[in-house]
Amino acid sequence: PLIPTADLVRDASSAGTAVAAFNVITLEHVEAVVQGADDAAAPVVIQISENAVKFRTGLLLPLARAAAAVAQTAGVGVALHLDHVTDPDLLHQAADAGFSSAMFDAGAAAYPDNLARTGEAVEWAHANGLWLEAELGYVGGKPDAPASAHAAGVRTDPAEARQFVRDTGVDALAVAVGSSHAMTTRTAALDHELIGELAAAVPVPLVLHGSSGVPDEELARAVDAGMRKINVGTALNVAYTRSVRQALDSDTAMVDPRKYLAGARSAMADEVSRLLRTIGTAALK
Ligand code: G3H
Ligand code: ZN
Repeated sequence: PLIPTADLVRDASSAGTAVAAFNVITLEHVEAVVQGADDAAAPVVIQISENAVKFRTGLLLPLARAAAAVAQTAGVGVALHLDHVTDPDLLHQAADAGFSSAMFDAGAAAYPDNLARTGEAVEWAHANGLWLEAELGYVGGKPDAPASAHAAGVRTDPAEARQFVRDTGVDALAVAVGSSHAMTTRTAALDHELIGELAAAVPVPLVLHGSSGVPDEELARAVDAGMRKINVGTALNVAYTRSVRQALDSDTAMVDPRKYLAGARSAMADEVSRLLRTIGTAALK
């Protein structure tokens, strides 16, 4: 069934674990995430990013409605989250489109600007029943990312993060601790000491972005140190595209998309359930 993101993150926090959040682009992604979650018997967050909305010709509803419909069929709890929103107009569509949460992303901006824009987003979100995540200390690497006010490799400062959360009232905070978006190899090294310091300083759940590039053991350690929401996108696309490529290479006469998408969807579902087991979310229900 469809459940609120806030409930999932709250349960993960009280269990000392993390909820996994997967980015979807197509209907096959949605089906794979739900299948993988059912296979692992673990609840999950489905995320649609602003970039994915742009790919869908700027329309949020078609994929959002499909995701909600597939989520209803799941045997585990599935939450819908609107991810990496920079445009307040898109944020304002979230509640009506069935999302219980969103991430407002002004992480590329300088501190005062991030604070002001995030504060406004929180005010709107809370007035409209949405749980809101924001970012402090820029996690780079996103395709078509806006120019950033921050140097490459910048880390989130715990004292600043504490102040940011207090002043904006955000429900969760994405932090820069060594991961980077869109990595196709698992070679990122996280700063576990910093994660611990941030978890101690910040009174809301911490979110790890760019988790595709983080090795399994590092992910498990990050959760132990206090990460409560783990965002994964690229790793699913790696599994999916590898399967499509193999299928097309092995049969050059193949034209029916169902023939190669079925295998790709199930490869993605396997990656979802593998990651859910790694993160240890199965303890949640
Ligand atoms: O918000 C989405 C995540 O940060 C995904 O990052 O594609 O590098 O796993 P990733
Ligand atoms: Zn991200």
